[in-house]
Amino acid sequence: MIAILDFGSQYSELIARRIRETQVYSEILPYHTTAEQLRSWQPQGIILSGGPNSVYDRGAPQCDPAIWQMGIPILGVCYGMQLMVQQLGGKVVRSALGEYGKAALHIDDPTDLLTNVEHGTTMWMSHGDSVVQLPEGFAILAHTENCPCAAIAHHERNLYGVQFHPEVVHSQGGMALIRNFVYHICGCEPTWTTATFVEEAVSEMRAKVGDKRVLLALSGGVDSSTLAFLLHRAIGTQLTCVFIDQGFMRKLEPERLVKLFHEQFHIPVEYVNARERFLTAIEGVTDPEEKRRVIGHEFIRVFENESKRLGPFDYLAQGTLYPDVIESAGGAIDPQTGERVAVKIKSHHNVGGLPKDLQFKLIEPLRRLFKDEVRRVARALKLPDEIVQRQPFPGPGLAIRIIGEVTPERLDILREADLIVRQEINRHGLYHQLWQSFAVLLPVRSVGVMGDKRTYAYPIVLRFVTSEDGMTADWARVPYEFLELVANRIVNEVPGVNRVVYDVTSKPPGTIEWE
Ligand code: XMP
Repeated sequence: MIAILDFGSQYSELIARRIRETQVYSEILPYHTTAEQLRSWQPQGIILSGGPNSVYDRGAPQCDPAIWQMGIPILGVCYGMQLMVQQLGGKVVRSALGEYGKAALHIDDPTDLLTNVEHGTTMWMSHGDSVVQLPEGFAILAHTENCPCAAIAHHERNLYGVQFHPEVVHSQGGMALIRNFVYHICGCEPTWTTATFVEEAVSEMRAKVGDKRVLLALSGGVDSSTLAFLLHRAIGTQLTCVFIDQGFMRKLEPERLVKLFHEQFHIPVEYVNARERFLTAIEGVTDPEEKRRVIGHEFIRVFENESKRLGPFDYLAQGTLYPDVIESAGGAIDPQTGERVAVKIKSHHNVGGLPKDLQFKLIEPLRRLFKDEVRRVARALKLPDEIVQRQPFPGPGLAIRIIGEVTPERLDILREADLIVRQEINRHGLYHQLWQSFAVLLPVRSVGVMGDKRTYAYPIVLRFVTSEDGMTADWARVPYEFLELVANRIVNEVPGVNRVVYDVTSKPPGTIEWE
């Protein structure tokens, strides 16, 4: 296992993912984790991440100096390297010239850390400070035109530092360097694989649950579906899956989901038709956050009723992922146990933020995984592509894609338009190229003309975006002919719609959803 001490770099998560790509497990821990706490994780190596500070800032984050004496290989990246230099008696100063972007790496010592990293390879730099004096026992491994100490090492103590960011995609030799550190310097074996994860998660869950019962709220997304597969494999009929149909799903999706689980996967699902109840609750609500609140609140009430009806249950299974753990717990570790403190449920979560007084213990087998790792596990468990590759769909569903009031009539309009979008996106092989593709219904009306008659009806917005992670997004450059085809079908086939517009806003400044 490799521990990453996080000094606030935007790339800390990326370092963790790159390590895991070498099939070695990695954990992100807060920078102030002490050497003693670190020992309980038994890391084979430690990486100090970059960070936004200068090491000479007042109050700049420091690591526990005792980590240098642990005898575990350490790699400092950018700020991490500067901190290593400063704490061990070297000198860091603000450089006259910062270095941002690509730089050619000139290798002075092509051994251990830089084995197989080509001379002249491109590395990604982003720093205003530079190391000007190395601590005792350190040597330079590589330099760039503007940075004499681009890679350094104290070979005997297994301490390494790089000024560049080997984890970013623009650093050509980055993965070779990471592999050298992980395999050759730390001696890790590539054992973090999907198969071992499934095996370990299944036996852990079996041991934890014993003969108790587990409740799972299924949404149809990849996380909750993977969770259901894993738990079903681990505990069979001690698992109860509930699918609450709040009436805001896409056309035919609830039916399809329940059928898939029953007939293809042989995992029984309790289907709860709560459509009327949600529609009544949301009547007259137009504010986006209020919609989320009402839906979340209603979800909890229905969920509570169902857990009483089907229960009692001891455990609630949740599809919490690793980024949620890092974000919500702030990585805080209980100094007594070395365990991460309780995980908060994210507000966007499909389960809608369950209150603390629900008397369940949590079971979260996916909490160590990134989203792409969940998809790999899903594939290994033989979930079908339509779930593994499913575009994200928000918990409140179509209710936040109907701007203004949500009524049965407006839901019907959006469902029909959305179905056409899905059909054409699939037919043209665009589904997997887009992060999300959907229709939005606006509350305004505009004038049109159809068959010599004046119309006064609603517009549909097409929202097709590309994105890496949903945090930022760009509008998709789909062909005009495709837009024309979708627009024609919607106007011709969906009563109540006489106009289609295409959203060309990126995120930021827009968001992906309209509400
Ligand atoms: P925005 O609209 O904030 O969306 O750019 C980013 C991602 O989050 C999804 N989203 C939600 N998911 N409940 C959810 O489960 C919500 O209330 C919610 N709002 C937005 C959105 O679809 C996109 O993938």
